[in-house]
Amino acid sequence: MNEITHQDAQRAAMLLMASIKSVAFYPQAHPAVRQPLDELAGIFNEMFQERSEIHLGVVEGVLFLGNNLFVAPNSSVAELAERLIEKGLFAMTIVAGVDAGDLFFFASLLARKNFPAGLVFEELSKKGVTAIKYGIDEERDENFAEEGDQAAVRTYHDALNAVRGTMKDIESGRIPASDRINEVVDNMVSLTIKDHTTLLGLAMIKDYDNYTFNHSVNVGILAVALAAYLGMDRETLCDTNTAGLLHDIGKIKIEKAILNKPGKLSGDEYEEMKKHVEKGAEIVKEMENIHPRVTDAVLGHHIKYNRSGYPEWARTRDFDQLAEILAVADCYDAITTLRSYNSPAPPKTALDVMRRVSGTSLNIDLVEKFAEMMGEYPVGTLVRLDSNEIALVVKPHPQESSEAAVKIIIDAEGNTLEKPRLVSLAGKDGGRYATIVALVDPLLKNIDVSRYFLT
Ligand SMILES: [Fe+2]
Ligand SMILES: [Fe+2]
Repeated sequence: MNEITHQDAQRAAMLLMASIKSVAFYPQAHPAVRQPLDELAGIFNEMFQERSEIHLGVVEGVLFLGNNLFVAPNSSVAELAERLIEKGLFAMTIVAGVDAGDLFFFASLLARKNFPAGLVFEELSKKGVTAIKYGIDEERDENFAEEGDQAAVRTYHDALNAVRGTMKDIESGRIPASDRINEVVDNMVSLTIKDHTTLLGLAMIKDYDNYTFNHSVNVGILAVALAAYLGMDRETLCDTNTAGLLHDIGKIKIEKAILNKPGKLSGDEYEEMKKHVEKGAEIVKEMENIHPRVTDAVLGHHIKYNRSGYPEWARTRDFDQLAEILAVADCYDAITTLRSYNSPAPPKTALDVMRRVSGTSLNIDLVEKFAEMMGEYPVGTLVRLDSNEIALVVKPHPQESSEAAVKIIIDAEGNTLEKPRLVSLAGKDGGRYATIVALVDPLLKNIDVSRYFLT
């Protein structure tokens, strides 16, 4: 059975949200209502070709549809998640045969304010709608990702929330609580100690709508992975991870117009932007149970290896090595993320760029260690195999390690697989599944690499 694709799941969630909005204003026969509902019913029916029911709901704040988790949702999917949470509607089952009429009643009930899940399903049964049920009967959706991956995705989501919560505290004038951050750091560090590559794939999730949160979590992951690879102790790993999550927290105090400006910043604007390191350090310093070297690293993450960075007054000051680790992680995430003023670089190109600036911006040894950790074909690299398939590297060191793994996403005939196939290049019994022969540019193949790390 093929899994429901992320694209279809996202489209369904967006159509459901669009329907909820339009039923509040228009009658059932109006095209603004009819069209999204018809399309939604069509998508569900397609999905029912291969299954008899579909599960929809919210787990730990994350919307799921079938096996798809929306960890970094677009605004419409996030709105649907909020709507379901508000109603206490955490799990439901949609059964084969659901039609646009059923979905119309369902959307109308979800559109009503202060109308909890219990009442929604009471009304549905009064209307004779049996294809949308409350709860999930089965113990577990057989298509859910494996336990380890689930834990990683959940931790990633918790980290996003912890950063978001910290920023909210600052916005409302409070000293941010540190327990949320400390709790998630503890989990991230435990996962990293077990296997420093577990979270690396998640750092390839790029969410342009929530860049600051997403970037903070990615830098936290990359920094802690590097610290673990360098063999640092648990306490240092925790501080590195915390520093990564909080390194740009000072941006909350920078004017939004400057922060989100698509073009180049003017001289004055750049001066303002630079203040995020000092503002961030001030905030972190006030937080309870955060080690002073975290504050130090936040202050020094743009100081640069040759001390040509900022804050200018701190150029002659000693900084903890954490600041240099952060700079490496920060640089990698920035280069591999699509921003309005540059194009996303594949991981290997990012490493080349980092090598060019090592010795000036970045610490040479750390860049080399980072590149070594990422391996010959870093996580998130799209490759062609000698089997003529196109695959995405999801575990590093595919040439050397038996742990090496890729997801086949385009088969030898050039067809995109609906369900990517996870294989170990090393293969069983010491044989090889296939060998990587070339790098492939995801833009040329129109592949959004990041979505393959969510399921
Ligand atoms: Fe920064
Ligand atoms: Fe940053």
